[in-house]
Amino acid sequence: MKIIKHALRYIKYLFKSQNHYSIHSPTIYNFISNVIYSTTSKSETKEIEELRVQLYANESFINIKDYGAGSNINNNNKRKIKEIARNSSKNSKYGNLLYRIVKSLNPNTIFELGTSFGISTCYLAKGSPQTTITTFEGCNESVKIASNNFAKLEFNNIKIIHGNFKDTLEKEFARNNNLDLIFIDGNHTENATIKYFELALNHSHNKTIIIFDDIHWSKGMENAWKHITRSKKTTVTIDLFFVGIVFLDPKLSKENFIIRF
Ligand SMILES: C[S@@+](CC[C@H](N)C(=O)[O-])C[C@H]1O[C@@H](n2cnc3c(N)ncnc32)[C@H](O)[C@@H]1O
Repeated sequence: MKIIKHALRYIKYLFKSQNHYSIHSPTIYNFISNVIYSTTSKSETKEIEELRVQLYANESFINIKDYGAGSNINNNNKRKIKEIARNSSKNSKYGNLLYRIVKSLNPNTIFELGTSFGISTCYLAKGSPQTTITTFEGCNESVKIASNNFAKLEFNNIKIIHGNFKDTLEKEFARNNNLDLIFIDGNHTENATIKYFELALNHSHNKTIIIFDDIHWSKGMENAWKHITRSKKTTVTIDLFFVGIVFLDPKLSKENFIIRF
């Protein structure tokens, strides 16, 4: 039933979405045409795609502890690595989008909430090898796999913070007052998403970009996205259905764009 509702929301998005041609703000027009609609050549993120293929084929079972809203597909605690990788990790299209966003922003600090096996983290890390990425994950087994993946791909710019968000976020955010990019991809519930949004706002600056995963995953997530788009602190918001991108820059006029991607 959840999957059917999600599919209906996607059809609604397809009807409402537009391309960038009618957008007046040069900053947003350029962001959409040069970053969102640009392509990543296969060679740039080849090793991450190879890692994805290995995880998608891995038949081993692990015990997962999911602190978040759980999976649409399978809520058993003992699950195959390949199922988790297929259901939880950002796919290649969105992974490469994260890579391009980081490459274009050249941020000093990136926070990611929800590491899982580290697929999205790898795209973030690849986009800017000199940037430190701090990624948060509660599940012990996932942390082990992610750490191995980062070592395998020789990423030395990633720091994993292991533990429940409720015990780790406040402390780590407090150490980093001016975050440049924040990717929120854990605990897809309305209340938690709004809470992470408020926390992110308190540690942001005018040029910070906040990316939310799965903004249409449930009614609750849609409510959270509405809250974010209506907040006085946000200016431009871009709805790509599977992710929402938030700008805080007061020089931009407040508007929510539903962009076909
Ligand atoms: C969708 S997955 C992340 C996928 C990853 N960003 C990717 O695309 O490769 C969300 C992760 O957030 C973690 N998570 C959710 N709520 C959490 C919490 N309250 N504390 C710690 N980890 C949490 C889950 O264990 C899960 O691994």
